[in-house]
Amino acid sequence: MAERPRSAGPLAVAVPGSPSPTSGSRRLAEAVLARLSDRGWRTEVIDLGALAADALLGRVEDATTGEAVALAGAAQVLVVATPMYRATYSGLLKCFFDLMPPDYLAGKACVLVATGAAQGHLLAVDHAMRPLVASLGGVSVAIGIYATAPELAGDTLPPALAERLDRAAAEADRLGRALAGDGG
Ligand SMILES: Cc1cc2nc3c(=O)[nH]c(=O)nc-3n(C[C@H](O)[C@H](O)[C@H](O)COP(=O)(O)O)c2cc1C
Repeated sequence: MAERPRSAGPLAVAVPGSPSPTSGSRRLAEAVLARLSDRGWRTEVIDLGALAADALLGRVEDATTGEAVALAGAAQVLVVATPMYRATYSGLLKCFFDLMPPDYLAGKACVLVATGAAQGHLLAVDHAMRPLVASLGGVSVAIGIYATAPELAGDTLPPALAERLDRAAAEADRLGRALAGDGG
């Protein structure tokens, strides 16, 4: 996990929920962060796979995991990314969100990003991820991102997917600033 940022200003944090070192959902989350960086946001990525499993499961307290939760809490925009596992978000992502106290995401704009083996579980973005962030008070931007393996095969993202990423980042920029009282 990156160190907690010290300077003031809008902060966007990605929480990729895949344990894969070559994660496609993480790649898309980082693509959203890159777009937000172009719009003046500081960006950080929380590496959930590097956190202690016992701490993620709530069995023990752990400073590094606490810092990761705090980093998510310091963000004005949270990019929540996951592979589809069994028709919903990954258990790794769920464990991290279960460590957050009630209303922890109040006042934050959330971007929802998912990848799956096929299009069949596309609606889990709206039916599973949107309620996940709403249960903690987070407001998700209207446009969700979902992609399958063929769309991620090349070095360059397909134009339609890149355009959705542009729109999601633009929405998050506006909503995140507005919710933070930064002139929206
Ligand atoms: C345990 C497991 C369960 C999966 N379940 C689904 C599923 O229900 N629907 C789906 O479309 N893909 C499913 N997949 C495929 C992954 O969602 C797909 O490979 C995804 O793009 C991987 O994202 P990543 O590269 O970010 O890890 C599953 C993969 C694994 C390992």
